[in-house]
Amino acid sequence: MSSFRSALLALVGATLLIANGLAATAANRATFPKDFKQMVMYGDYRRGSGGELAYALKETIDIAKAGKPLPPGTRLVLEIYNDGALTGYFVMEKGVDWGLEVDEEKRTGDWHFQEFGLDGEVKRSPIAERCEACHQGQESNDFMFTRDRMEAYLP
Ligand code: HEC
Repeated sequence: MSSFRSALLALVGATLLIANGLAATAANRATFPKDFKQMVMYGDYRRGSGGELAYALKETIDIAKAGKPLPPGTRLVLEIYNDGALTGYFVMEKGVDWGLEVDEEKRTGDWHFQEFGLDGEVKRSPIAERCEACHQGQESNDFMFTRDRMEAYLP
């Protein structure tokens, strides 16, 4: 009986874990862009041996320069540098109604945020929990920090 009970508890626990995993996946659809190599570096935020470089497709930059909102399907990439070396990528991706899948207090319009390692695999780090919280402060700029650089970009 007690082993049946613990087996049942284990099953319930496993089901909850799976449900949680699915919810987490559904709430983050941002993927690493397959066309990253075609992207253009439009913002250089390197300071000393660290800092960031911001990338987007030329068509995305043209939309921003025309003063229009970035459409669903847009991806933005930030390369992260530490001690002179590239250490990973931060990606923002926008999709139709993706915001509805995010808890209201974490919502950043229809953008989803994800961190990737150099191998292109999803990376979980303490900062990955805080992407939305920090970018929420940029609501008036479509949750972006680099919109000004994008609009000012000259090839
Ligand atoms: C503490 C605040 C903060 C946190 C946390 C943060 N960002 Fe940002 N993000 C910035 C700033 C500031 C910039 C502008 C570039 C710079 O200064 O390096 C930026 C720029 C970006 C950009 C370039 C497009 C844009 O928004 O202008 C992307 C993509 C991005 N961040 C993704 C992420 C992801 C993904 C995470 C979580 C893994 C994250 N950010 C966490 C502050 C933050």
